[in-house]
Amino acid sequence: MKSLVIANQKGGVGKTALVAHLAFDFAERGLRVLVVDLDTQGNASFTLRSHVILGEASALFGDKPPKVTGKPGINLFRADAPLANLESKNLQESASRLRNNFRALGREFDVCLIDTAPALGVRLVAALVSADFVLSPIELEAYSLQGIRMMVSTIQNVRKGNPALKFLGILPSKVDSRNPRHQAHLEELKSTYKGLLLPTPIGLRSSVADALALGEPVWTIRKTAARKAIREMRGVAAHLHDAMKL
Ligand SMILES: Nc1ncnc2c1ncn2[C@@H]1O[C@H](COP(=O)(O)OP(=O)(O)O)[C@@H](O)[C@H]1O
Ligand SMILES: [Mg+2]
Repeated sequence: MKSLVIANQKGGVGKTALVAHLAFDFAERGLRVLVVDLDTQGNASFTLRSHVILGEASALFGDKPPKVTGKPGINLFRADAPLANLESKNLQESASRLRNNFRALGREFDVCLIDTAPALGVRLVAALVSADFVLSPIELEAYSLQGIRMMVSTIQNVRKGNPALKFLGILPSKVDSRNPRHQAHLEELKSTYKGLLLPTPIGLRSSVADALALGEPVWTIRKTAARKAIREMRGVAAHLHDAMKL
């Protein structure tokens, strides 16, 4: 099983939108997809509610791996309230339990997508210590640009403890191509993070929000307005499918 954490300590940048669309796309490719929702807001759990629910995400921080069988399609450990208690627990212990449990689940799934809360806490660091890949969606607003610096340095620090963690890059999301501020921020990101910027940005598309509310991918929405969103979401999924060698 290859695992990918979607992380940015800023909220509203498109993390959950990406997790859901990667899950839909990878499941259509016939993969056994595990989605772990570590955000107590439970947005990914809501969008993926009609898929297989394996249990609560806090169980993945227990001392034994949950006994589950992976099936082709989307399998979910949904967000639950006790996840919040992890923030006052010992980081080393939480990280080593999550890591061991992922290793045990690895035989049952091909890919694991981990959605995270907008905070640099125990859950996020435990996920980064346990995973193979990390990707950071970013919104092209000033506060997000400030935040990404901290995110990149967190990832660099975790890599000291988990050198196998590969940073797949920064994904500009909710990009309004007609907004000069977004254009200026995109140029700024390009010059600061050269090789780290993904070549497949996601535009600001209301069809993405429509799809998330319906619990469906954008490609099932029958509106011509969804066409660009479909191309973009499929593009990033194909890019990551290759990058992770799934
Ligand atoms: N590409 C997009 N275009 C327009 N709205 C989006 C897009 N991606 C996400 N949204 C909407 O923006 C809000 C935040 O997105 P979400 O994926 O929940 O971000 P995060 O998980 O980082 O908090 C949600 O209401 C969602 O429906
Ligand atoms: Mg979210």
